[in-house]
Amino acid sequence: MAKTNIKIEGVPYQVEEGLTILEAAKACGYEIPSLCAFNHGECSKGSCRVCLVEATGARGLVASCVYPVNEGIEISISSPAAVAARRASVELLLSNHSMMCQQCDKNEYCELLHVARATGARENMFRGTHTPTTYDDLTPAVVRDTSKCILCGRCVERCKSAHGKGVLGFENRGFNTIVAPAENRSFDKSPCILCGQCVSVCPTGALMEKSEIDKIDQAKKQGKHLIVQAAPAVRSALGEEFGMKIGTPVTGKMVAALRRLGFNKVYDTNFAADLTIMEEATELLGRIKNGGKLPMITSCSPGWINYAEINNGDLLEHLSTCKSPHEMFGAIAKTYYAETNGIDPKDIFVVSVMPCTAKKGEKEREQLKTNDIPDVDAVITTRELGKLIKRSGINFTKLPDEEFDQDLLGDYTGAAVIFGVTGGVMEAALRTAYYSLTGKEHDLVKFEQVRGFDGIKEASLDIDGTVINVAVAHGMKYAQVLLDDIRAGKSKYHFIEIMGCPGGCIAGGGQPYVKSCFLPNEDDDILDTYKEKRAAALYSEDQRQTVRQSHNNAQIQKLYKEYLGEPNSHKAHEILHTSYKARDAFRD
Ligand code: SF4
Ligand code: SF4
Ligand code: SF4
Ligand code: FES
Repeated sequence: MAKTNIKIEGVPYQVEEGLTILEAAKACGYEIPSLCAFNHGECSKGSCRVCLVEATGARGLVASCVYPVNEGIEISISSPAAVAARRASVELLLSNHSMMCQQCDKNEYCELLHVARATGARENMFRGTHTPTTYDDLTPAVVRDTSKCILCGRCVERCKSAHGKGVLGFENRGFNTIVAPAENRSFDKSPCILCGQCVSVCPTGALMEKSEIDKIDQAKKQGKHLIVQAAPAVRSALGEEFGMKIGTPVTGKMVAALRRLGFNKVYDTNFAADLTIMEEATELLGRIKNGGKLPMITSCSPGWINYAEINNGDLLEHLSTCKSPHEMFGAIAKTYYAETNGIDPKDIFVVSVMPCTAKKGEKEREQLKTNDIPDVDAVITTRELGKLIKRSGINFTKLPDEEFDQDLLGDYTGAAVIFGVTGGVMEAALRTAYYSLTGKEHDLVKFEQVRGFDGIKEASLDIDGTVINVAVAHGMKYAQVLLDDIRAGKSKYHFIEIMGCPGGCIAGGGQPYVKSCFLPNEDDDILDTYKEKRAAALYSEDQRQTVRQSHNNAQIQKLYKEYLGEPNSHKAHEILHTSYKARDAFRD
């Protein structure tokens, strides 16, 4: 890579050619305040003017996030003019801001407050009329409060890259500009799939998940039997809420914390992930054998299900009818577990800790009830669990490692753990499909072709003469490519895994914020590598498990023997399967 000679505050440096001043300065050990710039160019439009510096050859101050370095450029970050201009930019933003910091859930991770501190900005320097604002909390998952929006556009870019079609945009003009779905609609009357990707990049509290912590407090007061389950991706990221390095697995401490939060039972959603594989692999082989609708597509990701119902209503027969793992868990908790323990299912309150905001919406679906009782009662994100632990005065990093409750719904295998990363459901299903067709375990266990972060991955498996072609897509932009092929009759696949969020659940919209300004102990490339690090935490847990195939989960075998009969039985269908319906995003 060619090098460029630059000077910062008179000190000479050599940096890679083509960097912006912001990137070059970071490489040389300086931190220029910035807001709208994010993730190496995602939405670096130079709109917020928080990153102004002086540079030779430029007329006046330049936005360092978009201005490239050139040979011999001399940069000043600390000149009085640059310092004053950055402070004025932030003060302008604050002057049109609601400044309800104490009540704002973003407080601890607010980048606007961070740059206000870094620039010495004061809130009341400019007074005047505020832009008219909108508060949209009509969905169960995502809340939009434009009184806290700084119009940086990160959410618009992220929604476009993750969702593909892009739900958010700038509405109105000039002083009245706000960020909203088209025609200023509320999220519930838009094609929003509730994935929360916009929430994970918003620098302020303008986009947040809808908190359900109060529901847990309420259930405790009512004396409910509280069962909590945690999804695999949560343990790969929860430590980040407590300053631990990205990719640190914290399963044991998470269990210890959940116990200290007063849950009667602490279980792992992985039990139900194994159950999902039993049902889904059986469904797939049944469709292949009996000429059913192919390719069959996974149904674990509620962001994807929303997208399918809104945008691809003609393809819903391709979806597996399996409920997602946490919904299966809730359904089993309120039937098998309730009957075995003699508890009225109405007295059981199931909380899911999820990396996902869309699961908050999923649990409200009419089709996800068993005997008219919702399978899951509350969903909190990894971030909300972090808040709950801090609120309760628990010193997370000092907790001992504890085990999940082992009775009845406690066993899980390595196959279940990798559900949290793109390709994981596919790999887990192939391990069991191979066994179902051959009666033998596959030698490799690992199916490398479906690992990694390519937008679309594919593989072919010859199982005793039955060839199974599979594909994996994550993020709706890539999923739509596979769906268009199915619609055109060109798809060669038998089985497709689709996850709503790019990277899968490890990078779900409810996971801890990955913002370099709050991660001083991480490597500089963390925004490029955090998904790999979280994924590695899950793959290593799979590797450590002695049992790595869902069909070898002893408690799952017992559940079928004593309660469900066999996979895809009538009873299994009643409790563990669901249905879908095409929706008009602008009405339903
Ligand atoms: S977004 Fe930040 S600055 Fe605005 S109210 Fe929330 S914490 Fe305060
Ligand atoms: S929740 Fe997802 S689909 Fe909805 S606006 Fe945000 S990024 Fe777009
Ligand atoms: S909602 Fe958040 S991410 Fe979107 S423009 Fe406003 S401040 Fe930026
Ligand atoms: S960070 Fe450079 S203009 Fe916003």
